[in-house]
Amino acid sequence: MAGRIKKYCGLASSWLAAFLGHCNLESTLRDSASPLRHLLRLSGPLKPAGFYSYSNTSATRIVKRHFSASFAPMAGTVEVETVEKDGKQYRLVKEGKATILVPHGAKIGEDRGEVQQVFYNPIQQYNRDLSVLAIKTYGEDILAKRKEKILAKSNKLGKNKKRKRDETDEADPSTETEPTTTLASDQVTEASEEQKTHKSTFTMLDALSASGLRALRYGHELPFVTSINANDLSKSAAESIKLNVSHNGLDDIISVTNEDALAHMYRAIADGLSKRDRHGNPSKSHKFDVIDLDPYGTAAPFFDAALQSVRDDGGLLCITCTDSAVWAGHSYCEKTFALYGGTPIKGMHSHEAGLRLILNAVATSGARYGLSIEPLLSLSIDFYTKVFIKVTKSPQAVKFLGSKTMIVYSCDHGCSAFETQYLLRSKPTPNKKGSGSFYKHGMAAGPPTDRHCQHCGNKMHVNGPMYGGHIHSAEFIEKLLEQIPNASPEVYGTLPRLEGMLRTALEEIIPGPEPDPTVDPKDAKHAEIDIAPFFIIPSKLATVVSCAAPSDDMFRGALIHLGYQVGRSHCRPGSVKTDAPWSTLWWIITEWIRQKSPIKASKFTPLMPGWKILHSAGLVGREDGAAPKEADSEMEDVQAATTADAQSEETAKKGDEQASSPSELELRKTLVFNDDLARLGRLRDSQKLVRYQMNPRPDWGPLSKAKAS
Ligand SMILES: C[S@@+](CC[C@H](N)C(=O)[O-])C[C@H]1O[C@@H](n2cnc3c(N)ncnc32)[C@H](O)[C@@H]1O
Ligand SMILES: [Zn+2]
Repeated sequence: MAGRIKKYCGLASSWLAAFLGHCNLESTLRDSASPLRHLLRLSGPLKPAGFYSYSNTSATRIVKRHFSASFAPMAGTVEVETVEKDGKQYRLVKEGKATILVPHGAKIGEDRGEVQQVFYNPIQQYNRDLSVLAIKTYGEDILAKRKEKILAKSNKLGKNKKRKRDETDEADPSTETEPTTTLASDQVTEASEEQKTHKSTFTMLDALSASGLRALRYGHELPFVTSINANDLSKSAAESIKLNVSHNGLDDIISVTNEDALAHMYRAIADGLSKRDRHGNPSKSHKFDVIDLDPYGTAAPFFDAALQSVRDDGGLLCITCTDSAVWAGHSYCEKTFALYGGTPIKGMHSHEAGLRLILNAVATSGARYGLSIEPLLSLSIDFYTKVFIKVTKSPQAVKFLGSKTMIVYSCDHGCSAFETQYLLRSKPTPNKKGSGSFYKHGMAAGPPTDRHCQHCGNKMHVNGPMYGGHIHSAEFIEKLLEQIPNASPEVYGTLPRLEGMLRTALEEIIPGPEPDPTVDPKDAKHAEIDIAPFFIIPSKLATVVSCAAPSDDMFRGALIHLGYQVGRSHCRPGSVKTDAPWSTLWWIITEWIRQKSPIKASKFTPLMPGWKILHSAGLVGREDGAAPKEADSEMEDVQAATTADAQSEETAKKGDEQASSPSELELRKTLVFNDDLARLGRLRDSQKLVRYQMNPRPDWGPLSKAKAS
């Protein structure tokens, strides 16, 4: 049915256009024998007169019909209209508050793999909805902060001015107050200039704009935006953007350029470097508040220019990469390294690793210029990633990048265990005055693992380097979620999925240990690493040892019982995020087998990946079936893993705190897989959320690159 409507939708708009020139639309549609009516599948009574609008002005003729959601499965209702502009036929597509004109002959993204004149992909509405909502949240926040800062600055200047005047008056009542006043008023003028500039401008670059839809939505839906530059390399795309801009009445906000995005950004950077102020600092006039990079495939070639073209006092980069085969697959690992400076991970968490590779590529590009990144939101969606990154000039923050960058050792042929190795170590060290501590950066000890997996004995592969800090900001996601109740479903066609994914992303942030109170809190924030960088899937672990899987609730319950934190990842249904080491994960699974899901030991041979795990737990290869002595020595692994993973004294401190609570060894003795444990691990949703969107149809994926024009 969906396919039929889809096919007719396309046909219908051309037919409607053809009919328009010859007949009265309304009476044609009201004729029950009309082939047009049949084609549009108009069953039942027609809408009141006037619903099927038809206008005829000198420049534009429009016919309207509303089609059902099956045309673009996630976009709610899609309006398909036909319009004639200056003798040319277009289909109109409405998304959010914007409308784009799609030339006849150009595809509307329903047929994957076909060449398109100008890009419109309804599948990407989610990406655009998310971008609008994220930039709205970011913009409102940053503008409020800037306003506060400027007010505080002018208040301070005002006070200084008063103090200076008082001092002058006191020193010599006859002294002219002119010089002091002039100095202060210079500063005040400077402040109010800054106030004027910062308060009144919010500039954006849609560097690879295609039809301009993104820019149009930003123009319509972000009230604080003062200018948007929509750029595209393709001449026909640029012409199309211009047409769309004027059709949407946004000529005063959106400027259109037809350039290579790199040339466009580097030219502006070069201009800025040539224009220096009296202190020798390059001009920043070319810098945008927000830059959106949405290319076909990888955005990596644009990172350097975009980092230098976005504001360096907290500007926002919005980056889409659709080359999932590169950052999440292992078949092109050489390409992954070339583009992102690291190798990918093979396994269930490959998309999470992909996000970290992309973040690392951006972070290292920025570090060269003293630019530090803060990932606000990093999502793996369908076939692409979307990351929102705040960029700030801070050589101090950049010093922590090495200790937030990790190599991962993965047992990707065996049990899927992984170990992380940070490249540097940032360690709180008492200062000479004895008044506090500072972070000392040094080389990290390694390696954290043997050549073979300590759990199953298979080969460990090396992945990365990749970003090992938090991939989202909880504060930012909370602010985004606050927008949802007031967001219109008419504008954001994908609102339920937005909310579901954002709530899930919030749950994947596992807090690390409390920072050392003697260090500067700002530095402590820079030093934060993600103690649970990758999720696991309990049912996959069960597959390794060929047992029936515990329910997710039961597995989470066991982790909580043993004193670990749990969450889930937005990347995969059934995922569990936890700070538990792998020795604990395997202990839970083997204990589950022992208590609830016995295996047939004779089925297992030493060459199977699960053999060593089961053998160490005394479940196979032992006549008496008793747990071996080494089972207790697993606790040494637990402690060793916890200490090694943490790579700083902070975790040792956590260990001290834990010394007063029962040890994991004690807690293991009281773990019983029963309903109470499952209840302990149950994650309740107060409302039904669309946490994971399944592919709405086969071949769900990116559209192919348009032919050069
Ligand atoms: C995926 S589409 C953009 C889709 C658009 N952002 C949206 O949301 O509808 C990629 C666009 O990038 C343009 N493009 C490719 N390479 C470019 C370059 N080096 N500079 C500028 N535009 C480029 C293509 O012409 C194409 O229109
Ligand atoms: Zn293994």
